Amino acid sequence: MFQTDLLKGRTILITGGGTGLGRAMALRFAELGASLFLVGRREDPLKQTTRDIIAKGARAAWFSADIRDFAAVEKLLDAAEKEFGRPFGGIDTLVNNAAGNFIARTEKLSPNAFNAVVGIVLHGAFHCTLALGRRWIAAKQPGTVLNIVTTYADANCGSGFVVPSACAKAGVLAMTRSLAVEWARHHIRLNAIAPGPFPTEGAFSRLVPSKELEERARNHHPMKRFGRPEELANLAAYLVSEQAGYVNGECVVIDGGEWINGAGEFNHFTDMSDADWDAMEAARKK
Ligand code: HXC
Repeated sequence: MFQTDLLKGRTILITGGGTGLGRAMALRFAELGASLFLVGRREDPLKQTTRDIIAKGARAAWFSADIRDFAAVEKLLDAAEKEFGRPFGGIDTLVNNAAGNFIARTEKLSPNAFNAVVGIVLHGAFHCTLALGRRWIAAKQPGTVLNIVTTYADANCGSGFVVPSACAKAGVLAMTRSLAVEWARHHIRLNAIAPGPFPTEGAFSRLVPSKELEERARNHHPMKRFGRPEELANLAAYLVSEQAGYVNGECVVIDGGEWINGAGEFNHFTDMSDADWDAMEAARKK
């Protein structure tokens, strides 16, 4: 689908880069020639993904940090500098992918539960964007930011039972669109991807925590399947590449039509059999 040197010479920081969609993007970007700097809280997955990238012949390093803490974000950029021997590691692309989420009735949440999710998703994305954006602007170099949100991040929609995540992701989308305009003059491009259901351990163990719920979600989906991480990774590769140089402030949904399925008044008629249709057509007024 892409030239194999699409991302040659690029250095990409991915938060939550050791597992799930972060790992899938990291491996795909490496295949396309990029160097990777992976950040996350848990060392083991970061080490493993770094090893897997190096085994593919690409350059990669990792650093363990909690991006809720701005000082930790500053420290991780110092570590990138040491690893790659260039100011802030020569990072030219940031993927704000790290997330926190769980399914819960909102009235049962503690303020700290809300803070935990908003801290990772919104504050974390802002901290990384601010720390790198300042450096890119001071160095007069272009930059690219890709934010992984969700379909319910649209502030006109939201979602019950994941209220902290809905609030945080709506904030990240607002940041994407706001800074896309404010920082365009600094040649910094910001876009977002809004994934629907992708079965990763991190998300599904907290959001769809049983086989029965998983089956229900699959049956409810217009394509009767979940997304494949490599499908998202290819979209991400395009959006961070020079080929998407005029795409700015955009949020691309990748969900197999799940989100619009919920919106169309009569979309639930897809459940009807041919016999149901025949009966309805016979009954309806001409
Ligand atoms: C209610 C919960 C809870 C749950 C944690 N808390 N899990 N409350 N129901 N299931 C509460 C705790 O009791 C605590 O509040 C507070 O949240 C902080 O919890 P900690 O465990 O101390 O925090 P921490 O270790 O930092 O963990 C953060 C986390 C966790 C967000 C709670 O789930 C996590 O690390 N997640 C990372 C991976 C992840 O979530 N991936 C999924 C992303 S999917 P008190 O008051 O007791 O101190 C996604 C989009 C999906 O974002 C879109 C699908 C379409």
